[in-house]
Amino acid sequence: MKEKYYITTPIYYPSGALHIGHCYCTVAADSIARYKRLKGYDVKFLTGTDEHGQKIEEKAKAAGVTPQKYVDDIVVGIKQLWKDLDITNDDFIRTTEERHTKIVQKIFKKLYDQGDIYKGEYEGKYCTPCESFWTETQLVDGKCPDCGREVKVVKEESYFFKLSKYQDRLLKYIEEHPDFIQPESRKNEMINNFIKPGLEDLCVSRTSFSWGIPVDFDPKHVVYVWLDALTNYITALGYMSEDDSEFKKFWPADLHLVGKEIVRFHTIIWPIMLMALNLPIPKQVFGHGWLVINGGQKIGKSFGNYVPPQEYIEKYSLDAVRYFLLREVPFGSDGNFTEDSLIHRTNSDLANDLGNLVSRTVAMIEKYFGGIVPEGKAENAYSASLKEVIQKSVSEVESYMDKLEIGKALESIWNIISRANKYIDETMPWALAKDESKKDELATVMYELAETLRIISILLRPYLSKTPEKIWAQLGVSENLEWEDAKTFGLLKPGTKVQKGANLFPRIEKKAEEKPAVKEEKKAVEEEKKDYISIEDFEKVSLKVAKVLEAEKVEGSNKLLKLKVSLGSEERQIVAGIQKYYEPEDLIGRKLVIVANLKPVKLKGIESQGMVIAAGDGEVVKALFVDDAVEEGQDVH
Ligand code: MSP
Repeated sequence: MKEKYYITTPIYYPSGALHIGHCYCTVAADSIARYKRLKGYDVKFLTGTDEHGQKIEEKAKAAGVTPQKYVDDIVVGIKQLWKDLDITNDDFIRTTEERHTKIVQKIFKKLYDQGDIYKGEYEGKYCTPCESFWTETQLVDGKCPDCGREVKVVKEESYFFKLSKYQDRLLKYIEEHPDFIQPESRKNEMINNFIKPGLEDLCVSRTSFSWGIPVDFDPKHVVYVWLDALTNYITALGYMSEDDSEFKKFWPADLHLVGKEIVRFHTIIWPIMLMALNLPIPKQVFGHGWLVINGGQKIGKSFGNYVPPQEYIEKYSLDAVRYFLLREVPFGSDGNFTEDSLIHRTNSDLANDLGNLVSRTVAMIEKYFGGIVPEGKAENAYSASLKEVIQKSVSEVESYMDKLEIGKALESIWNIISRANKYIDETMPWALAKDESKKDELATVMYELAETLRIISILLRPYLSKTPEKIWAQLGVSENLEWEDAKTFGLLKPGTKVQKGANLFPRIEKKAEEKPAVKEEKKAVEEEKKDYISIEDFEKVSLKVAKVLEAEKVEGSNKLLKLKVSLGSEERQIVAGIQKYYEPEDLIGRKLVIVANLKPVKLKGIESQGMVIAAGDGEVVKALFVDDAVEEGQDVH
């Protein structure tokens, strides 16, 4: 029987159209799902939408439609986006579907009956006219961010889930299962920043809005956010329903792939819920990094940088977009997304390296052998090294994929592509073709190149969705090639008829430089605007609250201090010119304001990943400290 593999993406909020950052996670999950299928696993790949909550309720109200109608429309677009990206999900769960809502109610009741959920009081700042609770950080000048009116402290009856009861069990579980939270750095963050300081019970119901799943035994409450959202991973499998065969088969999940900011919910709340339900814990939660713009800016409509992902697909092709997302950023880290880097990757890796290899090989087989792949009887001086690179790369791809190092797997495939391009330069088929007595040697070169392409086309299958078949069409391969077929060199049948096709990846020419006249005109307009910045300009600067963890003098400098600061979900190293004004130990534990999206620079050879904000005239310079009540990582706005 096939081994099972259950992989999930987060369920996305349909509060607006999704952007390229959302595609990043789904494409990555898709490549893993495709890879596992090729490896022979019985794969279940789930994605979906997280449709409840106050924000959606408000957006729907503003749009003058019911929340259901609002999400229905957006979900059509999300499903279309996944189709356009050739995502191979096996199911799509919506939290408004009955298969989900009914079971969430059952789970809530079960946890209540067994005493893990209890009724208590939630205290928060409430704006009566807006009927909204706000957190301290959401308030603007202490007032309601929506209407600007006074807010008051109000207590709301709520149900709470006893996270605290399971804290020790969770810690033990994480420590005994080193692969559960990956990458490693995220695990340490969870343990040290969240679990060890102590878990507070979680508010799991609200009465101040109604767009949610009603608590069936107390219907003025709706189930609040994470208890509703996280359970999608089991409701989609039919947990607690009449037919729970899929649940029995696929649970526990093998991999929850999530963005770094929601690792916390998946590795604390979710396992504790499962413990309370007496269910097995997922094997792994992997927290990937974020795609950002201009070295740190978030992507989205509210940041004025939203581009529908389909535009990139139309402009550069689906496989160029998929390749870029999977290759450019080491999986787990944050990375920059720019159209320039997408163009660069496409031109260098796809057009130059891969596209040229395919077109040169097919053209030469047509020219020298009438389009028929010849038999390669005699190995040449380079055959062994070509085969060695192929063999090494196939096993590297497998081991990288086991560690979810998707970019490295692709890098390894590109080693074969470079080796094959070099092989053409070394064997010089155009010279062999001039000498009739070298016909056999030429035949071997052609065969080995075609065979290498066959293997490359298989290895590309998890990542690129259109290209492998396009290569098969050009190579004259008519059957589906499976993963194991990449492990033997020599399976391509001589006699196969190649068929030259369109260029796989035409080079992308960047838009011509703007005409000087246009440039001048723009410059004049810029000049005029010079003294003012717009609110959008200001929003480009990401100011954040950073807590100083460590501070020391930079050796050989009487100006610089090296700081290690925490932004809550990440740590940064910052070099600041404030040595004259502070003893290092005076800063430790204090909360500063930093510019978080400044391009990193090296000062005295030490990388500085941000800038401390300070005021003063050189004689007296003081850093801007923030009230301790504000959490590290919060935006300063
Ligand atoms: N609904 C919750 C998840 C519930 S899972 C039980 C949610 N939704 S979200 O739409 O805000 O985000 C979904 C995923 O998209 C998150 O994993 C988030 O990290 C990811 N991304 C959103 N913007 C992103 C980038 N710019 N880059 C990479 N991933 C990003 O959170």
